[in-house]
Amino acid sequence: MKKPLLSHYQHLVLPLLCFWVFVAAIQKNSTHSLILSSNHSSLDSLDAQTGLVIDPNLMLVKAHCTGCHSPKLITQTRLKRDQWQERIRWMQRNHKLWDLGGAEKTVLDYLEKHYSPSKTAYSRREALQNVKWYRLENQ
Ligand code: HEC
Repeated sequence: MKKPLLSHYQHLVLPLLCFWVFVAAIQKNSTHSLILSSNHSSLDSLDAQTGLVIDPNLMLVKAHCTGCHSPKLITQTRLKRDQWQERIRWMQRNHKLWDLGGAEKTVLDYLEKHYSPSKTAYSRREALQNVKWYRLENQ
């Protein structure tokens, strides 16, 4: 009896599956390193799930700050400590954010450390300071 065409390729199924898993794993890795290189200028590692900087206080920040909206609202923002606090008050006044209690200080420590204006977003360098401009002659 003639074998159905597909059975000739049966021995290829397992190797192909392994190859596919391998490629998928590589792709996942490279997406992650892409996030690392494009989103953050320093050598901080980013949490794969949220894109937030990994730090001992990350879990607390995740618990309080990622329930209502995308963590991108945080990673795209650069504020000084008192401005972060004001933003938290604003969410508490208008968007039902709860009282963070004792966690507020830790959350602010984290935000100030990683998302303050000196931490440039999108890998841009800090603005130049004390630039001495001069006029080009003979133009
Ligand atoms: C109870 C829900 C809730 C929680 C929890 C919450 N937020 Fe928000 N947040 C909001 C809402 C609603 C907005 C407005 C979203 C919009 O404009 O689309 C917002 C907006 C923001 C913005 C953008 C503000 C702007 O300038 O436009 C930032 C930054 C932010 N949140 C940070 C945080 C941080 C940090 C925490 C943790 C302390 C947090 N959020 C927790 C509800 C929440």
